[in-house]
Amino acid sequence: MKILFVASEAYPFIKTGGLGDVAYALPKALRKMGIDARVIIPKYSGIPLSFRNCMETVASFTVPVGWRSQYCGLQHLTYDEIPYYFIDNEYYFERPEIYGCYDDGERYSYFSKAILESIKYMGDFVPDIIHCNDWHCGIVPALLKDNYKDDEMYSKIKSVFTIHNLKYQGVFPKEILGELLNLNYGYNSDDALKFYDAVSFMKGGIVFADAVTTVSETYAKEIQTPFYGEGLDGLLRSQSDKLYGIVNGIDYELYDPKVDKKILYNYDYETRKQKTKNKLKLQCELCFTVNEDIPMIGIVTRLVKQKGLDLIVEKLQELLSLPIQIVLLGNGDEYYEDIFKYYASIYPSRISTNIIFDEVLAQKIYAASDMFLMPSLFEPCGIGQLIALKYGSIPIVRETGGLKDTITPYNKYTGTGNGFSFTNYSSDDLLEAIDRALDLYKDKDSWNKLVRNAMNSNNSWENSAENYMDLYSNLID
Ligand code: GLC
Repeated sequence: MKILFVASEAYPFIKTGGLGDVAYALPKALRKMGIDARVIIPKYSGIPLSFRNCMETVASFTVPVGWRSQYCGLQHLTYDEIPYYFIDNEYYFERPEIYGCYDDGERYSYFSKAILESIKYMGDFVPDIIHCNDWHCGIVPALLKDNYKDDEMYSKIKSVFTIHNLKYQGVFPKEILGELLNLNYGYNSDDALKFYDAVSFMKGGIVFADAVTTVSETYAKEIQTPFYGEGLDGLLRSQSDKLYGIVNGIDYELYDPKVDKKILYNYDYETRKQKTKNKLKLQCELCFTVNEDIPMIGIVTRLVKQKGLDLIVEKLQELLSLPIQIVLLGNGDEYYEDIFKYYASIYPSRISTNIIFDEVLAQKIYAASDMFLMPSLFEPCGIGQLIALKYGSIPIVRETGGLKDTITPYNKYTGTGNGFSFTNYSSDDLLEAIDRALDLYKDKDSWNKLVRNAMNSNNSWENSAENYMDLYSNLID
Protein backbone atom coordinates (compact mmCIF):
# COMPACT_ATOMS: atom_id res chain seq x y z
CA MET A 1 0.00 0.00 0.00
CA LYS A 2 1.37 3.41 -0.96
CA ILE A 3 0.30 6.53 0.92
CA LEU A 4 1.38 10.08 0.13
CA PHE A 5 0.87 12.12 3.29
CA VAL A 6 0.46 15.81 2.48
CA ALA A 7 0.81 18.51 5.13
CA SER A 8 1.85 22.12 5.56
CA GLU A 9 4.30 21.23 8.35
CA ALA A 10 6.11 18.18 9.71
CA TYR A 11 8.43 17.49 12.64
CA PRO A 12 11.48 17.62 12.72
CA PHE A 13 11.74 20.07 9.83
CA ILE A 14 9.16 22.69 10.70
CA LYS A 15 6.45 22.63 13.35
CA THR A 16 4.00 25.13 14.80
CA GLY A 17 1.56 22.73 16.45
CA GLY A 18 0.11 19.25 16.71
CA LEU A 19 -0.23 18.80 12.96
CA GLY A 20 3.56 18.80 12.72
CA ASP A 21 3.77 15.96 15.26
CA VAL A 22 1.16 13.91 13.43
CA ALA A 23 2.92 14.36 10.08
CA TYR A 24 5.93 12.60 11.58
CA ALA A 25 4.44 10.04 13.93
CA LEU A 26 1.58 8.67 11.84
CA PRO A 27 3.64 7.97 8.69
CA LYS A 28 6.29 6.40 10.94
CA ALA A 29 3.68 4.12 12.55
CA LEU A 30 2.26 3.24 9.12
CA ARG A 31 5.70 2.32 7.81
CA LYS A 32 6.20 0.01 10.79
CA MET A 33 3.09 -1.79 9.58
CA GLY A 34 4.64 -2.31 6.18
CA ILE A 35 2.90 0.55 4.38
CA ASP A 36 5.00 2.67 2.01
CA ALA A 37 4.03 6.03 3.56
CA ARG A 38 5.87 9.15 2.35
CA VAL A 39 5.41 12.76 3.38
CA ILE A 40 5.44 15.93 1.29
CA ILE A 41 5.67 19.49 2.64
CA PRO A 42 6.81 22.90 1.36
CA LYS A 43 10.52 23.69 1.59
CA TYR A 44 10.26 26.70 3.90
CA SER A 45 13.31 28.82 4.66
CA GLY A 46 12.67 28.03 8.34
CA ILE A 47 13.79 24.42 7.83
CA PRO A 48 17.24 24.16 9.46
CA LEU A 49 20.23 24.24 7.13
CA SER A 50 21.40 20.89 8.47
CA PHE A 51 18.37 19.36 6.74
CA ARG A 52 18.35 21.65 3.71
CA ASN A 53 21.95 20.69 2.94
CA CYS A 54 21.04 16.99 2.81
CA MET A 55 18.15 17.33 0.37
CA GLU A 56 18.59 15.82 -3.08
CA THR A 57 16.80 17.19 -6.09
CA VAL A 58 14.59 14.57 -7.68
CA ALA A 59 13.22 16.70 -10.52
CA SER A 60 12.53 20.26 -11.64
CA PHE A 61 9.47 21.16 -13.66
CA THR A 62 6.82 23.83 -13.94
CA VAL A 63 3.36 23.95 -12.41
CA PRO A 64 0.44 25.76 -14.05
CA VAL A 65 -0.97 28.39 -11.68
CA GLY A 66 -3.76 30.13 -13.61
CA TRP A 67 -2.17 31.52 -16.80
CA ARG A 68 1.36 31.39 -15.34
CA SER A 69 3.88 28.57 -15.08
CA GLN A 70 5.75 28.46 -11.78
CA TYR A 71 9.00 26.66 -11.09
CA CYS A 72 8.94 23.61 -8.84
CA GLY A 73 11.93 21.71 -7.50
CA LEU A 74 11.04 18.34 -6.01
CA GLN A 75 13.58 17.51 -3.31
CA HIS A 76 13.96 14.51 -1.10
CA LEU A 77 15.56 13.19 2.05
CA THR A 78 14.99 10.25 4.36
CA TYR A 79 14.66 10.84 8.09
CA ASP A 80 14.03 8.04 10.62
CA GLU A 81 13.42 5.78 7.63
CA ILE A 82 10.55 7.99 6.45
CA PRO A 83 10.95 9.38 2.91
CA TYR A 84 10.18 13.10 2.87
CA TYR A 85 9.63 15.20 -0.24
CA PHE A 86 9.89 18.98 -0.30
CA ILE A 87 8.36 21.43 -2.74
CA ASP A 88 11.01 24.02 -3.53
CA ASN A 89 9.96 27.43 -4.79
CA GLU A 90 11.74 30.41 -3.25
CA TYR A 91 9.15 32.94 -4.36
CA TYR A 92 6.48 31.23 -2.26
CA PHE A 93 8.40 29.66 0.61
CA GLU A 94 11.62 31.65 1.26
CA ARG A 95 9.98 33.86 3.88
CA PRO A 96 10.38 34.32 7.62
CA GLU A 97 6.80 33.24 8.35
CA ILE A 98 5.10 29.96 7.45
CA TYR A 99 1.47 31.06 7.60
CA GLY A 100 -0.34 34.36 7.64
CA CYS A 101 1.03 35.86 4.41
CA TYR A 102 -1.19 38.13 2.28
CA ASP A 103 -0.99 35.59 -0.54
CA ASP A 104 -1.58 32.35 1.40
CA GLY A 105 -4.38 31.49 -1.02
CA GLU A 106 -1.89 31.57 -3.88
CA ARG A 107 0.92 29.85 -1.95
CA TYR A 108 -1.18 26.85 -1.00
CA SER A 109 -2.93 26.71 -4.38
CA TYR A 110 0.53 26.41 -5.86
CA PHE A 111 1.57 23.85 -3.22
CA SER A 112 -1.52 21.72 -3.92
CA LYS A 113 -0.94 21.77 -7.66
CA ALA A 114 2.76 21.08 -7.23
CA ILE A 115 2.01 17.98 -5.15
CA LEU A 116 -0.15 16.50 -7.85
CA GLU A 117 2.43 17.26 -10.55
CA SER A 118 5.21 15.81 -8.37
CA ILE A 119 3.67 12.36 -8.50
CA LYS A 120 4.85 12.11 -12.12
CA TYR A 121 8.44 12.27 -10.86
CA MET A 122 8.33 9.83 -7.95
CA GLY A 123 9.42 6.82 -9.97
CA ASP A 124 7.34 3.76 -9.26
CA PHE A 125 5.71 5.41 -6.26
CA VAL A 126 2.21 6.11 -7.53
CA PRO A 127 0.19 6.52 -4.34
CA ASP A 128 -2.97 4.50 -3.77
CA ILE A 129 -4.10 7.26 -1.43
CA ILE A 130 -3.24 10.92 -1.09
CA HIS A 131 -3.82 11.75 2.55
CA CYS A 132 -4.39 15.52 2.87
CA ASN A 133 -4.39 17.44 6.14
CA ASP A 134 -6.19 20.68 6.99
CA TRP A 135 -7.17 23.47 4.63
CA HIS A 136 -3.70 24.04 3.13
CA CYS A 137 -4.15 20.98 0.95
CA GLY A 138 -7.95 20.76 1.09
CA ILE A 139 -8.15 21.68 -2.56
CA VAL A 140 -6.07 18.66 -3.62
CA PRO A 141 -9.04 16.22 -3.75
CA ALA A 142 -10.96 18.67 -5.96
CA LEU A 143 -8.00 19.19 -8.30
CA LEU A 144 -7.43 15.44 -8.46
CA LYS A 145 -11.01 14.82 -9.53
CA ASP A 146 -11.04 17.69 -12.02
CA ASN A 147 -7.67 18.60 -13.55
CA TYR A 148 -6.46 15.01 -13.61
CA LYS A 149 -9.61 13.04 -14.30
CA ASP A 150 -8.53 12.03 -17.80
CA ASP A 151 -5.03 10.98 -16.82
CA GLU A 152 -4.81 7.22 -16.40
CA MET A 153 -2.02 7.38 -13.83
CA TYR A 154 -4.19 9.43 -11.48
CA SER A 155 -7.51 7.74 -12.10
CA LYS A 156 -7.11 5.11 -9.38
CA ILE A 157 -5.73 7.45 -6.71
CA LYS A 158 -8.13 7.94 -3.80
CA SER A 159 -8.02 10.80 -1.32
CA VAL A 160 -8.47 11.11 2.43
CA PHE A 161 -8.87 14.49 4.09
CA THR A 162 -8.15 14.94 7.80
CA ILE A 163 -9.47 17.90 9.76
CA HIS A 164 -7.07 18.87 12.55
CA ASN A 165 -8.85 22.11 13.29
CA LEU A 166 -12.08 23.20 11.61
CA LYS A 167 -11.64 26.79 12.73
CA TYR A 168 -8.97 27.59 10.15
CA GLN A 169 -10.62 27.10 6.78
CA GLY A 170 -8.71 28.83 4.00
CA VAL A 171 -11.49 31.01 2.62
CA PHE A 172 -10.52 33.10 -0.44
CA PRO A 173 -12.18 35.28 -3.09
CA LYS A 174 -13.93 33.15 -5.70
CA GLU A 175 -11.71 34.57 -8.47
CA ILE A 176 -9.06 32.16 -7.16
CA LEU A 177 -10.86 29.41 -9.10
CA GLY A 178 -9.91 30.70 -12.54
CA GLU A 179 -6.95 32.87 -11.70
CA LEU A 180 -4.94 30.28 -9.78
CA LEU A 181 -6.60 26.87 -9.60
CA ASN A 182 -7.63 26.33 -13.23
CA LEU A 183 -11.06 25.23 -12.02
CA ASN A 184 -14.19 26.48 -13.76
CA TYR A 185 -16.71 28.73 -12.05
CA GLY A 186 -19.10 25.79 -11.69
CA TYR A 187 -17.10 25.07 -8.54
CA ASN A 188 -18.54 28.22 -7.04
CA SER A 189 -21.69 26.33 -6.06
CA ASP A 190 -23.16 25.10 -2.79
CA ASP A 191 -22.36 21.47 -3.50
CA ALA A 192 -18.75 22.34 -4.34
CA LEU A 193 -16.50 25.07 -2.90
CA LYS A 194 -18.84 28.02 -2.36
CA PHE A 195 -18.77 29.41 1.17
CA TYR A 196 -20.95 32.50 1.44
CA ASP A 197 -19.52 34.87 -1.17
CA ALA A 198 -16.14 33.11 -1.37
CA VAL A 199 -14.62 29.67 -1.80
CA SER A 200 -13.33 27.45 1.00
CA PHE A 201 -10.40 25.05 0.75
CA MET A 202 -11.60 23.23 3.87
CA LYS A 203 -14.92 22.64 2.15
CA GLY A 204 -13.03 21.32 -0.87
CA GLY A 205 -11.48 18.61 1.28
CA ILE A 206 -14.79 17.69 2.89
CA VAL A 207 -16.79 17.55 -0.35
CA PHE A 208 -14.29 15.98 -2.74
CA ALA A 209 -12.21 13.58 -0.63
CA ASP A 210 -13.30 9.94 -0.69
CA ALA A 211 -13.18 9.86 3.11
CA VAL A 212 -12.95 12.58 5.73
CA THR A 213 -11.48 11.99 9.14
CA THR A 214 -10.88 14.09 12.17
CA VAL A 215 -8.62 13.51 15.12
CA SER A 216 -11.03 12.17 17.76
CA GLU A 217 -14.43 10.51 17.81
CA THR A 218 -15.95 13.21 19.99
CA TYR A 219 -14.75 16.02 17.71
CA ALA A 220 -16.21 14.11 14.74
CA LYS A 221 -19.60 14.31 16.48
CA GLU A 222 -19.14 17.86 17.77
CA ILE A 223 -18.37 19.40 14.37
CA GLN A 224 -21.76 18.25 13.15
CA THR A 225 -23.36 20.71 15.60
CA PRO A 226 -23.61 24.51 15.18
CA PHE A 227 -21.52 25.30 18.28
CA TYR A 228 -18.44 23.50 16.96
CA GLY A 229 -19.28 23.41 13.26
CA GLU A 230 -17.74 26.78 12.25
CA GLY A 231 -20.45 27.23 9.64
CA LEU A 232 -19.83 23.80 8.09
CA ASP A 233 -21.91 21.65 10.47
CA GLY A 234 -24.72 21.26 7.92
CA LEU A 235 -22.28 20.11 5.27
CA LEU A 236 -20.61 17.72 7.70
CA ARG A 237 -23.98 16.24 8.71
CA SER A 238 -24.75 15.65 5.04
CA GLN A 239 -21.38 13.91 4.60
CA SER A 240 -21.55 11.93 7.86
CA ASP A 241 -21.46 8.55 6.10
CA LYS A 242 -17.87 9.22 5.06
CA LEU A 243 -16.76 11.05 8.23
CA TYR A 244 -14.68 9.14 10.80
CA GLY A 245 -13.04 10.05 14.09
CA ILE A 246 -9.61 8.50 14.68
CA VAL A 247 -7.82 9.74 17.76
CA ASN A 248 -4.16 10.81 17.53
CA GLY A 249 -1.49 9.10 19.55
CA ILE A 250 1.94 10.27 20.63
CA ASP A 251 5.30 8.87 19.73
CA TYR A 252 6.68 7.24 22.88
CA GLU A 253 10.19 7.27 21.41
CA LEU A 254 10.03 11.07 21.59
CA TYR A 255 7.93 11.44 24.72
CA ASP A 256 9.09 9.12 27.47
CA PRO A 257 10.37 10.47 30.80
CA LYS A 258 12.56 7.39 31.12
CA VAL A 259 14.79 8.40 28.21
CA ASP A 260 13.94 12.03 27.43
CA LYS A 261 17.25 13.88 27.10
CA LYS A 262 15.60 17.27 27.59
CA ILE A 263 14.92 16.61 31.27
CA LEU A 264 17.52 16.40 34.00
CA TYR A 265 16.34 13.35 35.93
CA ASN A 266 14.84 10.46 33.98
CA TYR A 267 12.12 8.40 35.64
CA ASP A 268 9.22 6.01 35.31
CA TYR A 269 6.47 5.23 37.80
CA GLU A 270 8.72 3.08 39.98
CA THR A 271 11.44 5.73 40.14
CA ARG A 272 9.11 8.71 40.47
CA LYS A 273 11.27 10.16 43.25
CA GLN A 274 13.35 11.40 40.32
CA LYS A 275 10.30 13.30 39.06
CA THR A 276 10.32 15.19 42.35
CA LYS A 277 13.94 16.16 41.70
CA ASN A 278 12.87 17.71 38.40
CA LYS A 279 10.27 19.71 40.31
CA LEU A 280 12.72 20.97 42.94
CA LYS A 281 15.16 21.94 40.22
CA LEU A 282 12.56 23.87 38.23
CA GLN A 283 11.30 25.60 41.39
CA CYS A 284 14.86 26.69 42.00
CA GLU A 285 15.35 27.88 38.40
CA LEU A 286 12.12 29.90 38.51
CA CYS A 287 12.89 31.41 41.93
CA PHE A 288 9.82 29.75 43.44
CA THR A 289 9.78 28.42 47.00
CA VAL A 290 11.61 25.11 46.81
CA ASN A 291 9.27 22.61 48.46
CA GLU A 292 8.06 19.35 47.01
CA ASP A 293 4.69 19.54 48.80
CA ILE A 294 3.50 22.66 46.98
CA PRO A 295 1.43 21.48 44.04
CA MET A 296 2.77 22.72 40.72
CA ILE A 297 0.42 23.26 37.79
CA GLY A 298 1.81 23.34 34.25
CA ILE A 299 0.23 25.09 31.26
CA VAL A 300 1.94 24.50 27.90
CA THR A 301 -0.10 25.87 25.05
CA ARG A 302 -0.53 28.29 22.21
CA LEU A 303 -2.09 31.38 23.79
CA VAL A 304 -5.32 31.45 21.79
CA LYS A 305 -9.00 31.48 22.74
CA GLN A 306 -9.44 27.82 21.69
CA LYS A 307 -7.36 26.70 24.66
CA GLY A 308 -9.86 27.95 27.24
CA LEU A 309 -7.53 30.61 28.61
CA ASP A 310 -10.47 32.90 29.40
CA LEU A 311 -11.59 30.46 32.08
CA ILE A 312 -8.13 30.51 33.66
CA VAL A 313 -7.90 34.31 33.42
CA GLU A 314 -11.29 34.72 35.14
CA LYS A 315 -10.05 32.75 38.14
CA LEU A 316 -6.37 33.63 38.13
CA GLN A 317 -6.56 36.05 41.04
CA GLU A 318 -8.35 33.40 43.12
CA LEU A 319 -5.98 30.65 42.03
CA LEU A 320 -2.96 32.70 42.99
CA SER A 321 -4.27 33.09 46.52
CA LEU A 322 -3.98 29.30 46.93
CA PRO A 323 -0.74 27.61 48.00
CA ILE A 324 0.15 26.49 44.46
CA GLN A 325 2.69 27.30 41.78
CA ILE A 326 1.79 27.85 38.12
CA VAL A 327 4.26 27.58 35.25
CA LEU A 328 3.02 28.79 31.89
CA LEU A 329 4.79 28.34 28.57
CA GLY A 330 3.60 29.44 25.17
CA ASN A 331 3.01 32.36 22.90
CA GLY A 332 0.19 33.69 20.81
CA ASP A 333 -2.35 36.48 21.27
CA GLU A 334 -0.85 39.56 22.86
CA TYR A 335 -3.98 39.92 24.97
CA TYR A 336 -3.25 36.70 26.86
CA GLU A 337 0.51 37.26 26.87
CA ASP A 338 0.00 40.60 28.62
CA ILE A 339 -2.41 39.26 31.24
CA PHE A 340 -0.11 36.39 32.22
CA LYS A 341 2.93 38.68 32.23
CA TYR A 342 1.07 41.09 34.47
CA TYR A 343 0.21 38.41 37.03
CA ALA A 344 3.77 37.08 36.98
CA SER A 345 5.02 40.58 37.84
CA ILE A 346 2.64 40.82 40.81
CA TYR A 347 3.04 37.22 42.08
CA PRO A 348 6.57 36.20 41.00
CA SER A 349 6.73 33.37 43.52
CA ARG A 350 3.40 31.89 42.43
CA ILE A 351 3.34 32.13 38.64
CA SER A 352 6.07 32.03 36.03
CA THR A 353 5.09 33.28 32.57
CA ASN A 354 7.35 32.18 29.71
CA ILE A 355 6.28 33.73 26.42
CA ILE A 356 8.32 31.59 24.05
CA PHE A 357 8.12 28.37 22.06
CA ASP A 358 10.77 26.31 23.83
CA GLU A 359 10.68 22.54 23.53
CA VAL A 360 13.25 21.98 26.29
CA LEU A 361 11.37 24.07 28.84
CA ALA A 362 8.14 22.36 27.73
CA GLN A 363 9.54 18.94 28.63
CA LYS A 364 10.91 20.27 31.92
CA ILE A 365 7.43 21.50 32.81
CA TYR A 366 5.79 18.16 31.97
CA ALA A 367 8.42 16.41 34.09
CA ALA A 368 8.25 18.81 37.04
CA SER A 369 4.56 19.60 37.35
CA ASP A 370 1.98 17.65 39.35
CA MET A 371 -1.00 18.81 37.31
CA PHE A 372 -1.53 19.99 33.75
CA LEU A 373 -4.25 22.45 32.88
CA MET A 374 -6.08 22.28 29.53
CA PRO A 375 -9.64 23.62 29.81
CA SER A 376 -10.13 24.04 26.04
CA LEU A 377 -13.18 25.68 24.49
CA PHE A 378 -12.76 23.07 21.77
CA GLU A 379 -9.98 20.56 21.18
CA PRO A 380 -9.91 18.36 18.07
CA CYS A 381 -7.49 15.97 19.79
CA GLY A 382 -4.89 17.70 21.91
CA ILE A 383 -1.37 16.41 22.43
CA GLY A 384 -0.38 18.23 25.62
CA GLN A 385 -2.65 16.07 27.79
CA LEU A 386 -1.19 12.89 26.27
CA ILE A 387 2.37 13.97 27.00
CA ALA A 388 1.33 15.09 30.50
CA LEU A 389 -0.13 11.62 31.22
CA LYS A 390 3.10 9.90 30.28
CA TYR A 391 5.10 12.29 32.47
CA GLY A 392 2.80 11.74 35.45
CA SER A 393 1.41 15.28 35.41
CA ILE A 394 -2.32 14.88 35.99
CA PRO A 395 -4.47 16.53 33.31
CA ILE A 396 -7.32 18.81 34.38
CA VAL A 397 -9.40 19.24 31.23
CA ARG A 398 -12.74 20.28 29.85
CA GLU A 399 -14.66 17.36 28.37
CA THR A 400 -14.46 18.27 24.71
CA GLY A 401 -13.04 16.60 21.59
CA GLY A 402 -9.96 14.49 22.18
CA LEU A 403 -9.74 15.63 25.80
CA LYS A 404 -12.99 13.81 26.46
CA ASP A 405 -11.79 10.71 24.62
CA THR A 406 -8.43 10.41 26.36
CA ILE A 407 -9.06 11.62 29.94
CA THR A 408 -11.28 9.64 32.29
CA PRO A 409 -12.16 11.39 35.55
CA TYR A 410 -10.64 9.84 38.65
CA ASN A 411 -13.14 7.88 40.71
CA LYS A 412 -12.01 7.77 44.31
CA TYR A 413 -14.24 4.76 45.09
CA THR A 414 -12.96 2.49 42.35
CA GLY A 415 -9.51 4.07 41.96
CA THR A 416 -9.98 4.29 38.18
CA GLY A 417 -9.40 7.27 35.90
CA ASN A 418 -6.41 9.30 34.82
CA GLY A 419 -7.35 12.94 35.40
CA PHE A 420 -9.95 15.51 36.37
CA SER A 421 -12.57 17.00 34.10
CA PHE A 422 -15.60 19.25 33.91
CA THR A 423 -18.28 19.64 31.27
CA ASN A 424 -19.57 23.19 30.94
CA TYR A 425 -17.45 26.05 29.69
CA SER A 426 -17.57 27.73 33.08
CA SER A 427 -14.75 29.09 35.19
CA ASP A 428 -16.57 28.04 38.38
CA ASP A 429 -16.57 24.46 37.14
CA LEU A 430 -12.89 24.74 36.23
CA LEU A 431 -12.09 25.98 39.72
CA GLU A 432 -14.08 23.14 41.24
CA ALA A 433 -12.11 20.61 39.18
CA ILE A 434 -8.83 22.19 40.30
CA ASP A 435 -10.07 22.05 43.92
CA ARG A 436 -10.85 18.35 43.53
CA ALA A 437 -7.32 17.79 42.24
CA LEU A 438 -5.74 19.82 45.06
CA ASP A 439 -7.76 17.87 47.61
CA LEU A 440 -6.69 14.52 46.27
CA TYR A 441 -3.09 15.71 46.10
CA LYS A 442 -3.06 15.82 49.91
CA ASP A 443 -3.91 12.11 50.05
CA LYS A 444 -0.60 10.69 48.85
CA ASP A 445 -1.78 7.08 48.43
CA SER A 446 -4.70 8.00 46.22
CA TRP A 447 -2.58 10.51 44.31
CA ASN A 448 0.04 7.86 43.59
CA LYS A 449 -2.65 5.53 42.30
CA LEU A 450 -3.84 8.28 39.97
CA VAL A 451 -0.29 8.99 38.79
CA ARG A 452 0.17 5.29 38.07
CA ASN A 453 -3.05 5.19 36.04
CA ALA A 454 -1.94 8.28 34.12
CA MET A 455 1.54 6.97 33.36
CA ASN A 456 0.11 3.61 32.28
CA SER A 457 -2.43 5.13 29.88
CA ASN A 458 -1.63 3.87 26.42
CA ASN A 459 -1.92 6.49 23.71
CA SER A 460 0.65 5.09 21.31
CA TRP A 461 0.10 5.44 17.57
CA GLU A 462 -0.29 1.72 16.84
CA ASN A 463 -4.04 1.47 17.42
CA SER A 464 -4.83 4.59 15.45
CA ALA A 465 -2.48 3.66 12.61
CA GLU A 466 -4.40 0.40 12.31
CA ASN A 467 -7.65 2.31 12.05
CA TYR A 468 -6.17 4.41 9.24
CA MET A 469 -4.93 1.27 7.55
CA ASP A 470 -8.44 -0.22 7.64
CA LEU A 471 -9.85 2.97 6.19
CA TYR A 472 -7.25 3.04 3.39
CA SER A 473 -7.90 -0.64 2.58
CA ASN A 474 -11.65 -0.09 2.34
CA LEU A 475 -11.14 2.83 -0.03
CA ILE A 476 -8.74 0.94 -2.26
CA ASP A 477 -11.11 -2.03 -2.47
C1 GLC B 1 -4.65 20.88 15.93
C2 GLC B 1 -5.70 20.76 17.05
C3 GLC B 1 -5.24 19.79 18.13
C4 GLC B 1 -4.75 18.49 17.51
C5 GLC B 1 -3.69 18.75 16.45
C6 GLC B 1 -3.20 17.50 15.75
O1 GLC B 1 -3.55 21.60 16.40
O2 GLC B 1 -5.98 22.03 17.62
O3 GLC B 1 -6.31 19.52 19.02
O4 GLC B 1 -4.20 17.67 18.51
O5 GLC B 1 -4.24 19.61 15.46
O6 GLC B 1 -4.24 16.78 15.16
